[in-house]
Amino acid sequence: MSPQNQPTWLYHEFQHTGVDYGNAEVARQFEGRHRSFRDFDLEFQRIKERVDLKRSDVVLDLGCGSGAFVVPAAKYCRKVYGADVSKSMLALLQEKLDAQGLKNVELFNDGFLSYSHDREPLDVVVSSIALHHIPDFWKAVALQKIVDALKPNGKLYLLDVFFNFSVSDWRNGTQKLLDDMSEAAGGEANVHVSSEYSTFNWIIEGMFERVGLEVEQTFDDATFLRAYVCRKSKPFRQDYQTAITREASRSIDAEAVRLWGIPSLLLMENAGRSLADIFMANATRLDNDQKPRRILICCGKGNNGGDGFVMARRLSLLGLDCRVIAFGRPDEYSGDALTNLNIFKASTKDSPEKLFFFDQSQVSLNQLANKLAWCDWIVDGLLGTGAVGPLRTPYNQIVPLLNQSGKPIFSIDVPSGLSADDGSVYTDAIKAKLTVALAVSKIGLTLECAKRYVGELHIGDIGIPIKPFIENN
Ligand SMILES: C[S@@+](CC[C@H](N)C(=O)[O-])C[C@H]1O[C@@H](n2cnc3c(N)ncnc32)[C@H](O)[C@@H]1O
Repeated sequence: MSPQNQPTWLYHEFQHTGVDYGNAEVARQFEGRHRSFRDFDLEFQRIKERVDLKRSDVVLDLGCGSGAFVVPAAKYCRKVYGADVSKSMLALLQEKLDAQGLKNVELFNDGFLSYSHDREPLDVVVSSIALHHIPDFWKAVALQKIVDALKPNGKLYLLDVFFNFSVSDWRNGTQKLLDDMSEAAGGEANVHVSSEYSTFNWIIEGMFERVGLEVEQTFDDATFLRAYVCRKSKPFRQDYQTAITREASRSIDAEAVRLWGIPSLLLMENAGRSLADIFMANATRLDNDQKPRRILICCGKGNNGGDGFVMARRLSLLGLDCRVIAFGRPDEYSGDALTNLNIFKASTKDSPEKLFFFDQSQVSLNQLANKLAWCDWIVDGLLGTGAVGPLRTPYNQIVPLLNQSGKPIFSIDVPSGLSADDGSVYTDAIKAKLTVALAVSKIGLTLECAKRYVGELHIGDIGIPIKPFIENN
């Protein structure tokens, strides 16, 4: 599988740094020693649960060594590929596969950089205690190649030694890590730090973000060992031809009302309907194939909140259990937002639990906590393009609570707290799984720095063509 004409400047991954796994004797010792303190079947079960491995899955193990993962995976998954730069490790693995008659495995004498996947796209890539063999620049390249080989939504399970101490504490931090590690790795521990390329967790996490891997879960299996479960996210959409400023987006609505005589209430109805439709079309996929049932819709005082009330009504009609928290006092709502608040109130008058006014009291905070625990999706209709500067009370308290809930968040128009103009975040912002920009994208949503707040970006139709209004501005 390795292309014959790799550039000469490609990192020489076949020249082992640190432990020389290419050496047959070292490989045999590795196998014997690791077998004595590891339980490969248990490790496999753990990975299986963490990535939710399926029998139908096609899996690749990079740096597979003598098959700690490949052998049990071959007994469970449809197809397993393994790659390693060490022929000696692969020979040990092949012996085990032959002895057990496992035929659904293909092995390649290739590394992270030379391996090129030209078979069916992969459901899962696994790599355990191997990526630290290549330097950081090349780790990013390796991760990019993994992303390219994965199916959309495919997963990476990466277990390795990562430094989680501060840089200023490098001496003590390293010593502590070595002390902890030497219990398991013995003499290999020193070599690991002196001659190999383990890196800080914030560096690897930055790499994930840049190549389009979203960290779903982390597991600290030892002070020095961290496992990341990452999902391949949709490529960040920078291909929206049109993206406008907050000011321009506001004038579009006003111009549509002035030039076309389209009532603003109708624009809000269209917006809420398209928010509900896009939510229904994408929520299951974005929440590990779980259908949404209980939705908590958080509505601020402005039009973003008004869109939220319409969305709540639409989703209820589609059979979802929606509860709304209004973050303004009843007398603070006006115009179209008030009309839609009243419609929602009237339509739920027999179910008082459906609408709740948050008033910053402890009782309110407890209610919010209960509702966060209850729901399986949160809708952020708090601020939209309205947020400028630092988050003010109560949003400086609410935004972190929503983020910490661990529930997927759907943002209306712009994740609250994020600047629609330049994608910056003053203090904090909602980290959405899905953002639906109304009518047209805002510039801030399409910038790289906003990616981790915006999640997947869609455009919601509000029933007017955008081009003439943009050209008029
Ligand atoms: C510590 S062993 C881990 C093996 C196996 N993943 C396990 O969990 O037992 C590290 C493995 O990474 C392999 N390795 C080193 N550099 C590599 C590279 N650039 N690409 C792929 N594998 C590499 C070594 O040959 C060795 O088999």
